[in-house]
Amino acid sequence: MSSQIDHLLTETRRFAPSAEFAEQANAHADLYDEATADREAFWAEQARALHWEKPFTKALDWSNPPFATWFEDGELNVAYNCLDRHVEAGHGDRIALLWEGEPGDERRVTYAELTDEVKRLANVLTDLGVESGDRVAIYLPMIPEAVASMLAVARIGAIHSVVFGGFSADSLRSRIDDAGAKLVITSDGGYRKGKISPLKPAVDQALGDRGHGPQETVEHVLVVKRTENEVSWQEERDLWWHDLVPAASADHVAQPFPAENPLFILYTSGTTGKPKGILHTSGGYLAQAAFTNKAVHDLHPETDVYWCTADIGWITGHTYVTYGPLANGATQVIYEGTPDTPHPGRWWEIVAKYGVTILYTAPTAIRSFMKLGRSIPEQHDLSSLRLLGSVGEPINPEAWMWYRHVIGGDRAPIVDTWWQTETGAIMVSALPGVTETKPGSAQVPLPGISLDVVDDQGQEVGNGNGGLLVLTEPWPSMLRGIWGDPERFKETYWDKFADQGFYFAGDGARLDEEGDVWFLGRVDDVMNVSGHRLSTTEIESALVGNEAVAEAAVVGASDETTGQAVVAYCVLKNSYTQAHDLEGVVDALRKWVGDQIGPIARPRDVYIVTELPKTRSGKIMRRLLRDVAEGREVGDTTTLADTMVMATIKGQVIGK
Ligand code: WTA
Repeated sequence: MSSQIDHLLTETRRFAPSAEFAEQANAHADLYDEATADREAFWAEQARALHWEKPFTKALDWSNPPFATWFEDGELNVAYNCLDRHVEAGHGDRIALLWEGEPGDERRVTYAELTDEVKRLANVLTDLGVESGDRVAIYLPMIPEAVASMLAVARIGAIHSVVFGGFSADSLRSRIDDAGAKLVITSDGGYRKGKISPLKPAVDQALGDRGHGPQETVEHVLVVKRTENEVSWQEERDLWWHDLVPAASADHVAQPFPAENPLFILYTSGTTGKPKGILHTSGGYLAQAAFTNKAVHDLHPETDVYWCTADIGWITGHTYVTYGPLANGATQVIYEGTPDTPHPGRWWEIVAKYGVTILYTAPTAIRSFMKLGRSIPEQHDLSSLRLLGSVGEPINPEAWMWYRHVIGGDRAPIVDTWWQTETGAIMVSALPGVTETKPGSAQVPLPGISLDVVDDQGQEVGNGNGGLLVLTEPWPSMLRGIWGDPERFKETYWDKFADQGFYFAGDGARLDEEGDVWFLGRVDDVMNVSGHRLSTTEIESALVGNEAVAEAAVVGASDETTGQAVVAYCVLKNSYTQAHDLEGVVDALRKWVGDQIGPIARPRDVYIVTELPKTRSGKIMRRLLRDVAEGREVGDTTTLADTMVMATIKGQVIGK
C-alpha cells in the first residue's frame, strides 16, 4: 500500500476510510454537492440544527464587505443551545464533562448539573451588574468552572475574553484594558507539572499600577478555589465563587439575543506588537462550530467519548471544547495538567481510563511523544480510539504516520484540520468517512468553504505551485472584526486583495496536482511555536524593555518538537556591558521574556551579537538571521547596508 520513496517530495501514500467507518460516518460526499449547488442554503440548513427562538429568514448579508452578517434577523441563546435543550430532550443525566485534575482528582459533570451551575452563575453575574454587551475576562485553569464561566457570560448576552492562564500579569493587563472588562473570573491557582501555578496573584498584579496607574474598568474579581494557596484579598472587589454561586438561584430563563450579538473576543498575535482582539458573534459561529465538530470529528454524542486537548485560552478550546461539542450534546474529557505529569504516559492512561474514542490534538504534542518512543503509549490500551485529529500547524508526514500507527492502531482515520482564531472553526480538512487521506496534506476545503492559492497580485498560481492562501467567499464563523479597530481589521485581512474581495489568511500554501492543500507556514512575521501564534515584534519589544538590551531581532527557526522555536539576537547596551559581568545574561534574558509575556514565548536561544543585519532603509533582514539559526548557508546579502555584518554574526553564533 505504501511507498516510502521520496515521500517528502511527493507523498504517494493514501489511506481510505474503512467501509465500516464510512458507513457510520455523519458526513457523506453529497454534502459537497449540496454546498456547491447553493452555498447559503447549505449553511442555513446547518444553522437550523440549532434552536432558534426566532428563526432567521436570510443566511448571508455581504452588501457591506468586509463586514458580513449571518442569519441576522434570527434570535437564539448560545448557552441554551449548549445546555438546556439537551436537558429538555431527556439527556440531563448524560455526562458532559469527564474532568481529570493533574493530581488525579476527578469530577463527572452531567448536562443537568452543568446547566444548573451556569444558571446560578448567570444570576450572580447579573447581580454584579454585568449586562449584555459587557466584557468579562476569564483567567482560569482547565477546570469545569472555566467552561461554566464562558457559558454563563454567553447566557446573559455578555462578551467573554478568555486569557490563557500561562500569560503573565502584563499580558493579562493589556487584554483587560483593551476589552475594558468589568469583571475578571479567576482561581487561586491551577496545577501544572506537579506544582501549583498561582493565578490570583497575577490578577492582583495586572489590576495594580503597572506604570500607568491602576486598572480602571474592573469592578469585581470572582475567584474559584482550586489549589488552596494563600491569596491576598481586596475587600469589596474580590469575591469567592463558593460563597456566591451555590447560594444563587438555579432558576434562570435564557433570553434570546440576535444572531450577530458578540459572543467573545480572543486575542491573537499579529505582525505588530499589539495583540488583536478577534471578535466573534453568536449564530454563525455556533452553527459552524457544531457542524464541523459533527462532520469532521464525526461526533456521535450517544456513544463517543471525545477529547480535545486544547486549553480554553486558545481558539481550539473555545470551538472544540466549549461550543461545538456542547452544542452537539457530547461527552468529553477535560484534563487540567501537562502531558508528562506525573509520568510520560499520562495522556494514554487517560485515553484508556475513559475509553476515549475521538482524540484531537496538536502536532507538537505528537512529535514530543514520538521523541519519547512508542513504548510509552504501548503500555496503555488505546483500542477505543476511532478517530484522530490534528490542528495548529502543519503535521509532517513522519509524525502523521506515527500518529496513525502507534496511536491509531492503523485503524483510526486522521483529520488534519486547518483553521485560525479568525476563521472561528475548521475550514480545510478531510471528511473522515469520505476522503482518501495523504500524510501531510490538510486535504480540501470543507463543504461550504471556498479557497484559492494566489500570487501577490491575486492571480491563481495553479496546481503544483506555491502561493498565498485566500478564502474567496464569506463563511458563517468568520471574525466580524478586531475589537475597537475596524481599520486594522480591513488592513490586516482584506486590503491586500481588495479588488478581488479575498480574505488573506497570512499562510503560504500549495495545491498539488489533485487539488489537495499543503500548508507551508506563515508568510508574515508571526511564528508558530507548539501550535501557538507568537509575534516576533512582541518578543522584540519585551527584549528591548530589558535594561541590558539595545536592539533585538527575533526569528522563528524550525524545531523538531515545537515546529518553530523562538531565536533571539540581541545587541547589548555599551553602558551595560561596561558595568556588568555578562555571565548569565543569556539565561536572564530568556527568563525575562518568559516573565514578560509567558513561558511559551521564552526564546530557545539568545545570541548576543554586536550588530543586526539591516537594509539601507533600516529594516532588519530576518531571513538571514533565520538562515543562521537553522544552520544554513546565509542567503543573498546584497541588499544589506553592511555586507560584512553576517560574517560577524555567524562568527559570534558559532563561537558560542
Ligand atoms: C497554523 C489555531 C497547517 C496556520 C486553530 C494558521 C495550521 C495558524 C493548521 C492559526 C494545519 C493551524 N496545518 N497550519 N492543520 N492549523 N495552522 O489562530 O499558520 O492559533 O494561520 O488557530 O496556525 O493559528 P491560531
